Amino acid sequence: MIYSQNPLTAVDTDVLILPWFEDDVASAVADVDAATGGELQRALGTKELSGRRYEVFIAATGGPSWQAKRIAFAGAGHSSEFTGDIARKIAAAVGLAMKQRRIGRAAFAVRLGTGNGADEKEISQAVAEGLTLSEFNIGSYKTSDVPPGKAPAWTIVSAKADCSAAVQRGRLLGECSNLARELANEPGNTLTPREFARRSEAIVAGSGLSFEVLDEKQIEALGMGMLLGVAKGSSEPPRLMVIRHDPPGAPATPVLGLVGKGITFDTGGISIKPAEGMDRMKDDMAGGAAVVCAMRAIAALKAPIKVIAVVPTTENMPGGRAVKPGDILKSAEGKTVEVINTDAEGRLILGDGLWYARKLGATHLVDVATLTGAIVTALGKITSGLFGTPQTWADVVRRVADRAGDRVWQMPLFDEYRDQIRSDIADLLNTGGRAAGSVTAALFLKEFAGGLPWVHLDIAGTAWAEESKPYLPKGPSGVAVRTLAELAFTSAEWS
Ligand code: BES
Ligand code: MN
Ligand code: ZN
Repeated sequence: MIYSQNPLTAVDTDVLILPWFEDDVASAVADVDAATGGELQRALGTKELSGRRYEVFIAATGGPSWQAKRIAFAGAGHSSEFTGDIARKIAAAVGLAMKQRRIGRAAFAVRLGTGNGADEKEISQAVAEGLTLSEFNIGSYKTSDVPPGKAPAWTIVSAKADCSAAVQRGRLLGECSNLARELANEPGNTLTPREFARRSEAIVAGSGLSFEVLDEKQIEALGMGMLLGVAKGSSEPPRLMVIRHDPPGAPATPVLGLVGKGITFDTGGISIKPAEGMDRMKDDMAGGAAVVCAMRAIAALKAPIKVIAVVPTTENMPGGRAVKPGDILKSAEGKTVEVINTDAEGRLILGDGLWYARKLGATHLVDVATLTGAIVTALGKITSGLFGTPQTWADVVRRVADRAGDRVWQMPLFDEYRDQIRSDIADLLNTGGRAAGSVTAALFLKEFAGGLPWVHLDIAGTAWAEESKPYLPKGPSGVAVRTLAELAFTSAEWS
């Protein structure tokens, strides 16, 4: 991906993409219209081009004054509504369209809207992210289909400010998101906990991060009875990954602790899931993948603070030694849990993970997990549930997520819900029943956050797209990678 400050007429490319606003005034059209030999005016007249979001209209350039062979107008909606998030989505949609058309070289011209204050750099980074996200292919195991189009070589053109660093940053964040999508797309028979650890090690290799993986014996020595309990039904042993970013000169605090759910396949265990849709449960490690891949970005972009990532990983299987409803597990932190439903396994492994992140010195926690079907009922497939305390910390993560293009919405953690996870014979139940299922799951996790600032992102609805959108094909979305990575650059805003 190249960054260019050339004037648009001097950009030598197969297709030069110009975002087109619905409310663009005809006078602004003049030279571009001439460059397309009047095609632009004609298309506007017939409404072939209206500027609605995600429209793509390609015209040949006439006349020698333009280096580009063709100009494509990319519908960008109303200019007053144009934000970094919309720029990212439009870039992704354009990227998919260019890939499908097998364009060799393409250039994207950065434009600003008239609305809020997103500047040239912010839009350039978002465009680089969107174009990079569009390069992801889901069909890695296809041997017979026509291979999908190769993504074009991209140039991002932005004449005003020097946006090269922003473009590089966006490129990297997009690539790390795509690595997380690859992991989430990997089936359960190849991506076992051990293989997840191996691939994660390869992903962080060479980035200056330290990578450590604990085996079942070390997990047992730490007393992680909840992680071990979930792992007992599987013949694949569990693992616990620990990744550290410890840059020279970083202050002793804060230490960001990232914890990701790494269930490489969730059958539900003895409380087994229905067959329909169970295949989707191969992506029950999407939170863990987001944490691993965010760490790669954090190191590559040289975040100024210490970050510790903890990813517990196991299968949830109904084997002969599997944990059974009614069993009691003892967490590493000491609290006992009565397992009512073995399908509520994510909170069990995360509870031990949160405890370990604290033990290793984290001062601010964020966990990411495909945790509950209830969050899909509440927020659908568009928005992740955000839970957290104190409110100042929840606000920090929410703001970062908004900017990074990961939609989140805060859900309540009122004390009154806590009654639903009270056990008669142990400290906690692992499920709180159907009512407010994502809230009681979050309250369970809060028990293991030790009173530290803590945020939980429930990505059960957002980790995998069931229907394709112009800007996001079916499959793994890479949600939360950019939010987690960008968060490590905002410590000045933490209190
Ligand atoms: N991995 C699932 C949650 C999930 C559901 C992710 C749908 C993606 C799409 C989780 O482990 C689970 O099974 N949760 C149960 C909890 C219940 C038993 C309290 C659920 O949501 O049904
Ligand atoms: Mn489950
Ligand atoms: Zn699960």
